[in-house]
Amino acid sequence: MGSGMVDDLDMLRASIEAAIAEAADLRALDAVRVSALGKSGEVTGLLKTLGALPPEERRARGAQVNALKLEVERALDSRRTTLEAFALDAKLAAERMDVTLPPRPHPPTGPESGSIHPISRTMEELIALFGAMGFRVAEGPDIEGDWHNFSALNIPDHHPARQDHDTFYLTPPEPGGRRPVLRTHTSPVQIRTMLEEEPPIRVIVPGRTWRADHDATHSPMFHQVEGLVIGRDIHMGHLKGTLVDFLRAFFGIADLPVRFRSSYFPFTEPSMEVDIGWSRRTGELGQGGDWLEILGSGMVHPKVLANAGIDPKVWQGFAFGMGIERITMLKHGIPDLRPFYEADLRWLRHYATSPLSPFTLHDAA
Ligand code: PHE
Repeated sequence: MGSGMVDDLDMLRASIEAAIAEAADLRALDAVRVSALGKSGEVTGLLKTLGALPPEERRARGAQVNALKLEVERALDSRRTTLEAFALDAKLAAERMDVTLPPRPHPPTGPESGSIHPISRTMEELIALFGAMGFRVAEGPDIEGDWHNFSALNIPDHHPARQDHDTFYLTPPEPGGRRPVLRTHTSPVQIRTMLEEEPPIRVIVPGRTWRADHDATHSPMFHQVEGLVIGRDIHMGHLKGTLVDFLRAFFGIADLPVRFRSSYFPFTEPSMEVDIGWSRRTGELGQGGDWLEILGSGMVHPKVLANAGIDPKVWQGFAFGMGIERITMLKHGIPDLRPFYEADLRWLRHYATSPLSPFTLHDAA
């Protein structure tokens, strides 16, 4: 056997390795594999010729051809790994998504293009003002059980608030069961709070509420804030003082007239509606001799305390609830409720506030 036979293996090795290095993708690489190691590949062909050689040549030649076969396999493997990494990089680059891209073009209002919606702003104000009086924020679910929304609050089965035209009912989880509701007020969170914690209690509950009603002053989804205070010696003087202070601070009118008018709610006894002074003619708050109803309140009914596991012989308290849209419209002279939910940038630019000037108690002074 001459050195020419080894040379032809060297040449074959060089040409296969060049083809492997040139293969630009996995499909081209596979073509190289077939042409070298496939059934009628070049290396396979060489292996087939071994049988015809005399035994002493066959051993040396066999070792060389098998070594070549191993080297080709290794070179194919390493190139496959590289090409797979390329393919993954290319796929990642092609599918790249910039999650920091804004979903829509910014409105052309300069650096302060985001702003705080009037509803959120009022909630911030409520939290700051009641927070200064020692109230914390409580929350509850939008989908309520009949018991929390009605029965526990001493609202009997025949009460008009239960009728279908007011309340959004959902399908009962089990046939024949009571229908869950979209909460019609924030008052069910009174029950949840009393069940969850020991008195004394001082919470406000800003949140979404739902009633099947739609016109210039009613929306099927709106917001309320509930207040609940429970203590051993809480009386109507606390109720009146808290609400008068709050209303004067919120509307920024130190001598705002406030009137408590006897009323009825199933869950308070006695119950009072609260009016503030304004002018029906000009819409101005604080003077003009007319009264505007603004919220409902009362001493928590003993049955409600008992329903929520609190002994009415030991504890008593007061509660109130008001519409957040309503007090926001009055404070800022907003005439129509519907634009609150329309995301009209012109309206937002007019009524929304800068996120860079959060509400502080100083604003209410
Ligand atoms: N839940 C009553 C309503 O939605 C308001 C209210 C709350 C009245 C608490 C009294 C006490 O109209």
